[in-house]
Amino acid sequence: MAIRNIVKEGDETLGKVCRPVTEFNERLWQLLDDMKETLVKADGVGLAAPQIGVLRRIFVMNVGDGWVEAINPEIVEREGEQEDVEGCLSCPNQFGITRRPQKVRMKAQNRQGKWFYLTGEGLKARCICHETDHLDGVLFKQHVIRMLDPSELA
Ligand code: NI
Repeated sequence: MAIRNIVKEGDETLGKVCRPVTEFNERLWQLLDDMKETLVKADGVGLAAPQIGVLRRIFVMNVGDGWVEAINPEIVEREGEQEDVEGCLSCPNQFGITRRPQKVRMKAQNRQGKWFYLTGEGLKARCICHETDHLDGVLFKQHVIRMLDPSELA
């Protein structure tokens, strides 16, 4: 396993649309393991492949209740609305209030290529939306209602 470098806002990789994963092999598994290790080191809750310079439709997430590896994810249902503080490992020290669905249902493939469904509410829904956006070159700032001033981050 290896810690990968997280690219920052301004890097053109973050604005690109990622390609689907078609091969579920050891190379993919190594990438997933590296992404998880990188996310733990960065102390975040979600990391998308383009954030480490890989233009593939993959993200990993752990909002405190276990790991999710999502390959070729797609949000298939959205319900309700929430407004909360959001940030991104690619935009250090920047936080803003975003509006997201309160609940989403996602379809994705696991590391063996098997499709599964996952429902997330609250922070998990927010994270699924945020990470899926990364795969289409969208950063959270495009959803921000209001950026927070550093003084508001107690
Ligand atoms: Ni992000």
